[in-house]
Amino acid sequence: MLIEKMSNHDLRLAMLPYSSALKVITMHAETIMEELFANRRSNPVEHIKSRLKRPSSIARKLEKKGYRPSVENALKYIDDIAGVRFVCLFPDDIYKIAEVIRNFNNIRICRIKDYIERPKPNGYRSYHMHVEVPIRLLDHEESVKVEIQIRTVAMDSWASMEHKIRYKKGVEIPDTVSYRLLECAHLTHELDKRMQELNEEINKLSPVKQPSEQLDTLEEYFKES
Ligand code: GTP
Ligand code: MG
Repeated sequence: MLIEKMSNHDLRLAMLPYSSALKVITMHAETIMEELFANRRSNPVEHIKSRLKRPSSIARKLEKKGYRPSVENALKYIDDIAGVRFVCLFPDDIYKIAEVIRNFNNIRICRIKDYIERPKPNGYRSYHMHVEVPIRLLDHEESVKVEIQIRTVAMDSWASMEHKIRYKKGVEIPDTVSYRLLECAHLTHELDKRMQELNEEINKLSPVKQPSEQLDTLEEYFKES
Protein backbone atom coordinates (compact mmCIF):
# COMPACT_ATOMS: atom_id res chain seq x y z
CA MET A 1 0.00 0.00 0.00
CA LEU A 2 1.24 3.53 -0.80
CA ILE A 3 2.26 5.45 2.33
CA GLU A 4 0.18 8.52 1.35
CA LYS A 5 -2.95 6.38 1.06
CA MET A 6 -2.61 4.74 4.50
CA SER A 7 -5.11 5.49 7.23
CA ASN A 8 -3.92 6.60 10.66
CA HIS A 9 -4.77 3.15 11.95
CA ASP A 10 -2.63 1.36 9.32
CA LEU A 11 0.26 3.76 9.92
CA ARG A 12 0.10 3.18 13.64
CA LEU A 13 0.19 -0.59 13.09
CA ALA A 14 3.20 -0.34 10.75
CA MET A 15 5.08 1.94 13.18
CA LEU A 16 4.28 -0.01 16.34
CA PRO A 17 7.22 -2.47 16.23
CA TYR A 18 9.61 0.44 15.51
CA SER A 19 8.31 2.43 18.43
CA SER A 20 8.74 -0.65 20.68
CA ALA A 21 12.29 -1.20 19.41
CA LEU A 22 13.15 2.40 20.40
CA LYS A 23 11.77 1.76 23.87
CA VAL A 24 13.79 -1.47 24.22
CA ILE A 25 17.09 0.23 23.35
CA THR A 26 16.39 3.27 25.52
CA MET A 27 15.35 1.07 28.45
CA HIS A 28 18.51 -1.08 28.18
CA ALA A 29 20.66 2.07 28.10
CA GLU A 30 18.88 3.72 31.02
CA THR A 31 19.27 0.58 33.12
CA ILE A 32 23.04 0.60 32.56
CA MET A 33 23.18 4.33 33.35
CA GLU A 34 21.34 3.78 36.64
CA GLU A 35 23.67 0.91 37.50
CA LEU A 36 26.73 3.09 36.85
CA PHE A 37 25.19 5.87 38.96
CA ALA A 38 24.45 3.46 41.83
CA ASN A 39 28.04 2.20 41.66
CA ARG A 40 29.36 5.79 41.59
CA ARG A 41 31.03 5.13 38.28
CA SER A 42 31.16 7.70 35.54
CA ASN A 43 28.43 7.54 32.96
CA PRO A 44 29.50 8.16 29.36
CA VAL A 45 26.02 9.20 28.19
CA GLU A 46 25.07 12.88 28.33
CA HIS A 47 21.59 12.35 26.84
CA ILE A 48 19.58 10.04 24.60
CA LYS A 49 17.11 11.09 21.92
CA SER A 50 14.92 8.83 19.86
CA ARG A 51 12.56 9.46 16.97
CA LEU A 52 10.37 7.74 14.41
CA LYS A 53 10.77 8.98 10.86
CA ARG A 54 7.66 10.82 9.65
CA PRO A 55 5.70 9.07 6.86
CA SER A 56 6.28 12.04 4.51
CA SER A 57 10.08 11.76 5.07
CA ILE A 58 9.94 7.98 4.50
CA ALA A 59 8.07 8.51 1.21
CA ARG A 60 10.51 11.25 0.11
CA LYS A 61 13.55 9.07 0.91
CA LEU A 62 12.10 6.09 -1.02
CA GLU A 63 11.43 8.25 -4.07
CA LYS A 64 14.96 9.66 -3.88
CA LYS A 65 16.31 6.09 -3.87
CA GLY A 66 14.10 5.26 -6.91
CA TYR A 67 11.48 3.09 -5.16
CA ARG A 68 7.68 3.43 -4.99
CA PRO A 69 6.72 4.96 -1.65
CA SER A 70 5.01 1.82 -0.34
CA VAL A 71 5.05 0.30 3.13
CA GLU A 72 6.73 -2.89 1.83
CA ASN A 73 9.54 -0.81 0.30
CA ALA A 74 9.88 1.25 3.48
CA LEU A 75 10.37 -1.89 5.60
CA LYS A 76 12.84 -3.27 3.06
CA TYR A 77 14.91 -0.25 2.05
CA ILE A 78 14.76 2.33 4.86
CA ASP A 79 17.14 1.55 7.71
CA ASP A 80 16.38 4.59 9.84
CA ILE A 81 12.61 4.49 10.36
CA ALA A 82 13.57 4.12 14.03
CA GLY A 83 16.56 6.17 15.19
CA VAL A 84 18.26 6.52 18.57
CA ARG A 85 20.97 9.09 19.19
CA PHE A 86 23.39 8.84 22.10
CA VAL A 87 25.12 12.13 22.84
CA CYS A 88 28.23 12.22 25.06
CA LEU A 89 30.72 14.83 26.24
CA PHE A 90 34.09 13.44 25.10
CA PRO A 91 35.18 11.54 21.96
CA ASP A 92 36.45 8.59 24.08
CA ASP A 93 32.93 8.10 25.42
CA ILE A 94 31.68 7.21 21.92
CA TYR A 95 33.48 3.87 21.85
CA LYS A 96 32.54 3.16 25.48
CA ILE A 97 28.87 3.60 24.57
CA ALA A 98 29.29 1.44 21.43
CA GLU A 99 30.76 -1.30 23.63
CA VAL A 100 27.82 -1.13 26.04
CA ILE A 101 25.39 -1.41 23.09
CA ARG A 102 27.30 -4.38 21.69
CA ASN A 103 26.64 -6.18 24.98
CA PHE A 104 22.88 -5.55 24.97
CA ASN A 105 20.99 -8.79 25.14
CA ASN A 106 19.15 -9.90 21.99
CA ILE A 107 20.38 -7.09 19.77
CA ARG A 108 22.05 -8.02 16.49
CA ILE A 109 24.62 -5.62 15.08
CA CYS A 110 24.19 -5.58 11.30
CA ARG A 111 26.48 -2.79 10.16
CA ILE A 112 28.86 -0.17 11.54
CA LYS A 113 29.57 3.15 9.80
CA ASP A 114 32.45 4.81 11.59
CA TYR A 115 32.47 8.45 10.51
CA ILE A 116 34.80 9.24 13.44
CA GLU A 117 37.61 7.13 12.05
CA ARG A 118 36.70 8.27 8.54
CA PRO A 119 34.71 11.55 8.56
CA LYS A 120 32.55 12.36 5.52
CA PRO A 121 34.12 14.77 2.98
CA ASN A 122 31.81 17.54 4.25
CA GLY A 123 33.23 17.11 7.79
CA TYR A 124 30.39 15.04 9.31
CA ARG A 125 31.52 12.95 12.29
CA SER A 126 29.47 10.34 14.14
CA TYR A 127 29.50 6.61 14.90
CA HIS A 128 26.56 4.72 13.39
CA MET A 129 25.39 1.24 14.33
CA HIS A 130 22.65 -0.50 12.37
CA VAL A 131 21.05 -3.04 14.68
CA GLU A 132 18.07 -5.38 14.70
CA VAL A 133 15.86 -5.78 17.74
CA PRO A 134 13.46 -8.75 18.06
CA ILE A 135 9.96 -7.54 18.98
CA ARG A 136 7.32 -9.99 20.12
CA LEU A 137 3.81 -9.17 18.83
CA LEU A 138 0.55 -11.02 19.49
CA ASP A 139 1.14 -13.88 17.07
CA HIS A 140 4.65 -13.49 15.70
CA GLU A 141 8.07 -12.01 16.30
CA GLU A 142 9.58 -9.29 14.11
CA SER A 143 13.17 -8.28 13.64
CA VAL A 144 13.10 -4.49 13.71
CA LYS A 145 15.84 -2.28 12.22
CA VAL A 146 17.12 0.64 14.28
CA GLU A 147 19.82 3.17 13.38
CA ILE A 148 21.89 4.18 16.40
CA GLN A 149 24.04 7.31 16.15
CA ILE A 150 26.67 8.06 18.78
CA ARG A 151 28.38 11.47 18.83
CA THR A 152 29.74 14.17 21.13
CA VAL A 153 27.76 17.29 22.05
CA ALA A 154 30.07 19.27 19.73
CA MET A 155 29.55 16.87 16.79
CA ASP A 156 25.82 16.96 17.46
CA SER A 157 25.73 20.77 17.42
CA TRP A 158 27.67 20.89 14.16
CA ALA A 159 25.37 18.30 12.54
CA SER A 160 22.22 20.18 13.62
CA MET A 161 23.51 23.51 12.33
CA GLU A 162 24.88 22.01 9.11
CA HIS A 163 21.54 20.31 8.47
CA LYS A 164 19.67 23.56 9.08
CA ILE A 165 21.96 25.49 6.72
CA ARG A 166 22.27 22.84 4.00
CA TYR A 167 18.63 21.93 3.71
CA LYS A 168 17.19 25.45 3.50
CA LYS A 169 14.36 24.95 1.02
CA GLY A 170 15.00 26.09 -2.54
CA VAL A 171 18.50 27.41 -1.92
CA GLU A 172 21.54 26.00 -3.71
CA ILE A 173 24.48 25.91 -1.27
CA PRO A 174 27.49 27.80 -2.74
CA ASP A 175 30.89 26.03 -2.60
CA THR A 176 32.23 28.78 -0.33
CA VAL A 177 29.53 27.95 2.24
CA SER A 178 30.33 24.20 2.03
CA TYR A 179 33.98 25.04 2.56
CA ARG A 180 33.20 27.19 5.61
CA LEU A 181 31.02 24.41 7.03
CA LEU A 182 34.01 22.08 6.64
CA GLU A 183 36.18 24.61 8.48
CA CYS A 184 33.61 24.67 11.30
CA ALA A 185 33.80 20.85 11.44
CA HIS A 186 37.59 21.15 11.89
CA LEU A 187 37.07 23.67 14.71
CA THR A 188 34.56 21.31 16.33
CA HIS A 189 37.09 18.48 16.11
CA GLU A 190 39.77 20.66 17.67
CA LEU A 191 37.40 21.58 20.53
CA ASP A 192 36.63 17.88 21.13
CA LYS A 193 40.36 17.02 21.22
CA ARG A 194 41.20 19.82 23.68
CA MET A 195 38.30 19.03 26.01
CA GLN A 196 39.27 15.37 25.97
CA GLU A 197 42.86 16.31 26.95
CA LEU A 198 41.59 18.52 29.81
CA ASN A 199 39.35 15.74 31.04
CA GLU A 200 42.23 13.24 30.99
CA GLU A 201 44.44 15.69 32.89
CA ILE A 202 41.81 16.15 35.61
CA ASN A 203 41.15 12.41 35.82
CA LYS A 204 44.83 11.84 36.68
CA LEU A 205 44.52 13.99 39.84
CA SER A 206 43.44 12.18 43.01
CA PRO A 207 40.00 13.31 44.20
CA VAL A 208 39.51 15.43 47.29
CA LYS A 209 36.97 13.63 49.51
CA GLN A 210 33.90 15.76 50.26
CA PRO A 211 32.52 15.25 53.81
CA SER A 212 28.96 14.85 52.44
CA GLU A 213 30.18 12.14 50.08
CA GLN A 214 31.55 10.05 52.96
CA LEU A 215 28.15 10.11 54.63
CA ASP A 216 26.18 9.36 51.53
CA THR A 217 26.20 5.57 51.69
CA LEU A 218 23.19 3.58 50.51
CA GLU A 219 22.05 3.01 54.15
CA GLU A 220 22.12 6.75 54.83
CA TYR A 221 20.16 7.35 51.66
CA PHE A 222 17.42 4.92 52.66
CA LYS A 223 17.34 6.15 56.28
CA GLU A 224 16.58 9.68 55.14
CA SER A 225 13.94 8.84 52.54
P1 GTP B 1 20.74 8.84 4.44
O1 GTP B 1 21.88 9.84 4.50
O2 GTP B 1 19.83 8.97 5.62
O3 GTP B 1 20.05 8.86 3.12
O4 GTP B 1 21.29 7.35 4.56
P2 GTP B 1 22.69 6.77 4.14
O5 GTP B 1 22.50 5.33 3.84
O6 GTP B 1 23.34 7.61 3.11
O7 GTP B 1 23.46 6.81 5.50
P3 GTP B 1 24.36 7.93 6.12
O8 GTP B 1 25.27 7.21 7.01
O9 GTP B 1 24.92 8.82 5.07
O10 GTP B 1 23.35 8.84 6.97
C1 GTP B 1 22.54 8.35 7.99
C2 GTP B 1 22.11 9.50 8.88
O11 GTP B 1 23.27 10.17 9.44
C3 GTP B 1 21.35 10.64 8.22
O12 GTP B 1 19.98 10.37 8.14
C4 GTP B 1 21.67 11.82 9.13
O13 GTP B 1 20.88 11.75 10.32
C5 GTP B 1 23.09 11.57 9.52
N1 GTP B 1 24.02 12.18 8.57
C6 GTP B 1 24.78 11.56 7.65
N2 GTP B 1 25.52 12.43 6.95
C7 GTP B 1 25.24 13.65 7.45
C8 GTP B 1 25.70 14.97 7.13
O14 GTP B 1 26.53 15.20 6.25
N3 GTP B 1 25.18 16.01 7.86
C9 GTP B 1 24.27 15.80 8.86
N4 GTP B 1 23.83 16.87 9.52
N5 GTP B 1 23.82 14.58 9.18
C10 GTP B 1 24.29 13.52 8.48
MG1 MG C 1 23.45 9.97 3.53
